[in-house]
Order: sequence, then C-alpha cells, then structure tokens
Amino acid sequence: MTDKELLEAAAEAATRSYSPYSSFRVGAAVLAADGTVYTGANVENAAYGSAVCAESSAITAAVNAGVRKIETVAAVCLDGEFCSPCGNCRQIMQEFFVETVVMYGPDGEPDARPLSELLPMSFGPEALG
Ligand code: THU
Repeated sequence: MTDKELLEAAAEAATRSYSPYSSFRVGAAVLAADGTVYTGANVENAAYGSAVCAESSAITAAVNAGVRKIETVAAVCLDGEFCSPCGNCRQIMQEFFVETVVMYGPDGEPDARPLSELLPMSFGPEALG
C-alpha cells in the first residue's frame, strides 16, 4: 500500500462525510500493522462540539476491529487545500503507536511525516507504566 493509495482511500471516505454545518469534508485511511486499511469521515452534530473528526473515525473503526498497532494515517480534505490533523487526533494517533501521517502538501504531492514531528514530547500510554 503506497502513500498515494492510502490518500486515495481517504479521499473516497471523505465523500461519505456528514458535515452539514461546516461543509468541510474530511476523510482518513488507517493502515494497520497487519496491512489492513480502515477508513472514516468526519461526522458532525447539531451540538457542534460533538463532531467527530475523520481521523478519529478511522482509528475508532480500526480499534473496533481489534487493531492495536497502526502504521500510517492518511488524511484528505475535499473542501480546502491543506488538511493537517488537529491536536486531538494527533493525541489519539499516539495511543496506537502511529508512525507516519500522510497528507497532500501545498504542491499536491504526498507529504509523509513522522508523528513525532507533529506531536513532539507527547504523553502516551508508556507514561502510565
Ligand atoms: N476535521 C477533521 O475531520 N479532521 C481534522 O483533523 C480537523 C477537522 C473536521 C471536523 C469538522 O467536522 C470539520 O473538519 C471542520 O472543522
């Protein structure tokens, strides 16, 4: 599974976004350590603060399928140029040992970065012993 293929899976998931309030469709694709791909889209709510991000949706789908180790998360937004995961989603990624986050860079090419760059000095499960 290439970064580009994972981004394409994320873009496809974004078409199922439920985002009537922001009209900002986001999709994510998770590559589990066993090679399986899980996807999710953002799901908004009339109580705005109850919205779920695409990355969290996809990670939740993976975890519910039994995944505990994720290699890569790809995120794509269909209604904006740049989709960099929010802070809360970065923390959720940290819990499942995500190594790489892929998005489209400003030049339209896949931009893969280590999670440690996006979330330095993070708090994770190892801190609890
Ligand atoms: N959103 C995501 O799905 N992922 C992010 O990392 C940032 C924001 C969603 C939440 C909300 O439905 C919409 O984008 C606008 O913030």
